[in-house]
Order: sequence, then C-alpha cells, then structure tokens
Amino acid sequence: MFKWSENYSVKVASFDKEHQKLFDIANNFYDQLISKKPQTLILETLKELSFYTRTHFKNEELIMSKQGYPKYFEHKKIHDEILLRVDEFYKKMKEGKTVLAHEIAGLLKEWIFDHILKIDKQYSQFFDGKNL
Ligand SMILES: [Fe+2]
Repeated sequence: MFKWSENYSVKVASFDKEHQKLFDIANNFYDQLISKKPQTLILETLKELSFYTRTHFKNEELIMSKQGYPKYFEHKKIHDEILLRVDEFYKKMKEGKTVLAHEIAGLLKEWIFDHILKIDKQYSQFFDGKNL
C-alpha cells in the first residue's frame, strides 16, 4: 500500500533506511487491519510501529542536536506531537473503539509520509556533506 521511493529520500542513508522500515511496519499494520486479523495481532503491530517511531525520532534528534541543526526544537516539537497522537490512537484501538480504514490511512500519511516529505526533507541540505 505505502511504497518508499527516491522521492522520499532525505539524503541521509541511515534515516532513509529507518524510514523504509517505518513504511514496512505501517504496511503490515494497515494490511492486518483491512484483512481483519485478530485484534491482538493488530495491536502488537501498532505497538511495534509506535516503538520504532520513537527509536527513529530519537536517532534523528540526536544527530540534529549534535550537528546544531537550527530547526532542532521546532522539529522535536513535531515529533513529540506525533508520539502523543500515536499513543492516543493506540489507546483508542486498545479500548476496542471503531477505527475506520480511511481514518488510519490518513493518520499514517500524516505521521510518516507527510512528515518525511515536509519536515524531514528540510534537514537534507543542512546535513549535506557533513560527517554524520
Ligand atoms: Fe523527523
């Protein structure tokens, strides 16, 4: 469903790799959801997605702060907001509330794909030629 392409490249190899893994987990999650797999499995995958998102955000933040990226705080604030909403969403699913496939597709788009295209890509030029 969600396919990583060069278009998503942030020109930092390790982050591209992590983004690809996020795509993979998001795909698993979405597939399990629309094929109505057991709730426990879906929740487990959502937990994995939330955990990996945290790990990845931390990795980005570490490099941004080490390199003195001027938009560090702005970027971190966006990460924190995404994580809050991921947690809220996890809670909602755990409580058995109905979530619609298009609602989820919209959230994933916002959390992962739009974030890469609009926010992460902003650091590409700053990191260019730096030894990360
Ligand atoms: Fe980011």
